[in-house]
This record gives sequence, structure tokens and C-alpha cells, in this order.
Amino acid sequence: MKAAVMRAYHAPFEIEEVRIDAPASGEVLVRTAASGICHSDLTVLEGGLPVPPPCVLGHEPAGVVEAVGEGVTQFSEGDHVVGCTTSWCGECRFCTEGRPYLCPSQYVGRPEGSAPRLTTPDGKPMGQFANLSSYAEQMLCPERSLVKIRDDMPLDLAALIGCGVTTGLGAVLNTVSIPAGASVVIVGCGGVGLSALQGARIVGAGKIVAVDTQKWKFDLARELGATDCIDASADDVVAAVHEATGGGAEFVFECIGLPATVQQAIAMTGRGGTAILVGLVPMTQLAEFSPADVTLQEKKIVGSYMGSNRFRFDMPKYIDFYFDGRLHLDEMISSRISLDQVNDAFDRLRRGEVARQVIVFD
Ligand SMILES: NC(=O)c1ccc[n+]([C@@H]2O[C@H](COP(=O)([O-])OP(=O)(O)OC[C@H]3O[C@@H](n4cnc5c(N)ncnc54)[C@H](O)[C@@H]3O)[C@@H](O)[C@H]2O)c1
Ligand SMILES: [Zn+2]
Ligand SMILES: [Zn+2]
Repeated sequence: MKAAVMRAYHAPFEIEEVRIDAPASGEVLVRTAASGICHSDLTVLEGGLPVPPPCVLGHEPAGVVEAVGEGVTQFSEGDHVVGCTTSWCGECRFCTEGRPYLCPSQYVGRPEGSAPRLTTPDGKPMGQFANLSSYAEQMLCPERSLVKIRDDMPLDLAALIGCGVTTGLGAVLNTVSIPAGASVVIVGCGGVGLSALQGARIVGAGKIVAVDTQKWKFDLARELGATDCIDASADDVVAAVHEATGGGAEFVFECIGLPATVQQAIAMTGRGGTAILVGLVPMTQLAEFSPADVTLQEKKIVGSYMGSNRFRFDMPKYIDFYFDGRLHLDEMISSRISLDQVNDAFDRLRRGEVARQVIVFD
């Protein structure tokens, strides 16, 4: 099958032939229909996460089941599925206490000593990202990386649910509890931020302030529910948020992943408010903030990983939101591209020119 391979950090992807194994016990082979392009793949490509090349990236997929391994009972050939990075074991402390998205099993592939799921045509191991690797025509996943979805959901839109929507919407619906009428700020209007913004609208937030450096995104942000938009490249963005929210917001979602915007998000948070860190700052970088500001104003700083999801429960619900007209997905797709166009798509992502791009397979 054809796949986009990260051969080295900072280098363009190579479109290569990659061999995929047959499903072992508990695994499912999926024909990829579509894969969204999430900024976290760019962070990996830029060396910001410990994922060594060569590796097939991509972690926001939807597709159709082609074959199942021994013991798989939840899926059969022809099922429509969405993939998620947070596969879970069902037995560890995190799974049993109801936070399966923190399960350490998501970082583990096949058992030690097994054949790799992906190899080069001459038999060398090829890395698989997040048990998915969706920049490829097929995926071989643990069954607990997948959820079955309704057949009438278009698969290019379903792909967005795989990471960006689950992360942004879940940060609002699962990680914190937002009372109706509360003030919410979304810092960064990419796929993740626009999903958080829609979450704020769905829970009935009062002020919903969208912040970005790309002014053209504000029409889309308003269409999706923003009441105010602030151009971070022109204004004193912290002062502008304080003004718009009457002294700082009750909830601020940082959806970019830069030390400077993390610092701004904490400063935008009002007395007693909560800053939610959704963006992924490269692991090599630190952010500064004033602990006294946090203590004296009793601000909370909360991390939100993959929308604190229980994705087999959340994702079908989000798809129903789409059919109910509450979650807008069509508007979030800036372009549909082929796998061969992935490097151009990453350039556009770097330049902040897009909401969400989706690779669509034949
Ligand atoms: N927490 C998680 O589990 C999780 C999951 C998925 C993605 N992420 C992270 O979320 C972040 C957002 O992902 P995405 O795919 O939406 O990214 P994206 O690149 O599509 O969106 C980022 C947005 O921030 C804007 N921006 C950049 N610099 C800015 C600045 N200084 N001030 C204001 N706006 C600025 C860009 O114009 C863009 O609209 C990334 O860091 C990604 O790695 C986290
Ligand atoms: Zn992602
Ligand atoms: Zn577990």
C-alpha cells in the first residue's frame, strides 16, 4: 500500500510503498477513507515529540473494516469506523477509574518479539504512529483504537472526529464543567480551537471570544458561534480579552501550543477562572507564568488530553450532534487533498492558512 513516510525530522514526507501485516489477535485491518491533518503531526515532524523516523504519521482517520483478527467481536468487514490515539486496556487504574484516555497501553504496539505491523518492501521495520498511521491507504489497529459509526455519516467528515473534534469539543464537555452564560475564550482557531468554540456554543456559554493572528478566520469563527474576535497580531491581546470579558474570562482554552500563548492564556483568565491547556507545546520547551497571580486570584491551570475522552461513547454522540445540526463539520474543511499532496498541505498548515485539511483516499 501507499503511505506518507517521515524519513527524517524537518524533511518532506516520502510517498512510499509500505507493507502491512495481516491482523493478529485483537487487531483490525481498515481501508482508510480519509485522514485529517492535525498540528500534532507537524509537531512530531519538527522533532517536538519523541517519535523516531522512519514512521508513517497521521492519527485522525475514518475508514471501512477489511478484515478482523482472532477474537475480535465488536467489528466485522464493511463496518464504518473512526480511529483514536487513545486505545485502552480496560484493566489499569486509569481505565477502571473512568479515565481510559490516560491508559498507558496507548503507547504500546504489538508485544515484544512480534513481527512489526508495518515494514518496508525489503522487510525493514517501519514505525506506526499512535497505533494508527493514517497517512496510508490501510491501517492495522488494535480493536480498542476504533469505534463503529453510523453508515450514513460521510467518512471525510467523520475523520475530523478522530482527533480535532474529540480534543476540542471534549475539552469543553469533559475536562471542565462550564455553566450556561459563562465567558469562554478560545486562543487559536485551527481544527482543535474551532471545535472547542463549537463546544462553548453547545453548552450555552455567554461571551465566546475567538483569538487568532489570521483575521480571515474570524468569519468562520463567528459562523461557528464566536461573539467576539480578537486579532492577536494587532492588539494587546491580553488587555483586549480583559476588556471583552469584563476583567478576564471564566474559561480560557489555549489551542495553539506555544509557550507565549500559554502565558497569555493564563493572563487572560479572570479571578477564580480556569485556563485549559489543550495545545501541545513541544516537549523541549517551557512556559513562564506568575505563580503569585495564580495563587492570589485562585486561578486553575488544567491540562486536557484528547478531550478527556471515552471515545466509544463520545464519538457516536458527536456524530449525532452533526446530524442534529449542532456540530458543524462541513464548514471546518478548508480542502480535500490526495495523499500525494501531503507536503503542500503541511506547508499551508505551517503558514496558518487552513482550518482543517483532509486527505481523501480513492
Ligand atoms: N491536547 C491534545 O490532546 C491535543 C490533541 C490534538 C492536537 N493538539 C494540539 O492542539 C494545537 C492545535 O492543533 P490544530 O490542529 O488546531 O492546529 P492549527 O495549526 O490548525 O491551529 C492553530 C491556530 O493558532 C493560530 N495561531 C498561531 N500562532 C498564534 C498566536 N501567536 N496567537 C494567536 N493565534 C495563533 C493559527 O493561525 C491557527 O489558526 C496543537 O498544538 C496540537 O498539537 C492537542
Ligand atoms: Zn491530533
Ligand atoms: Zn488501561
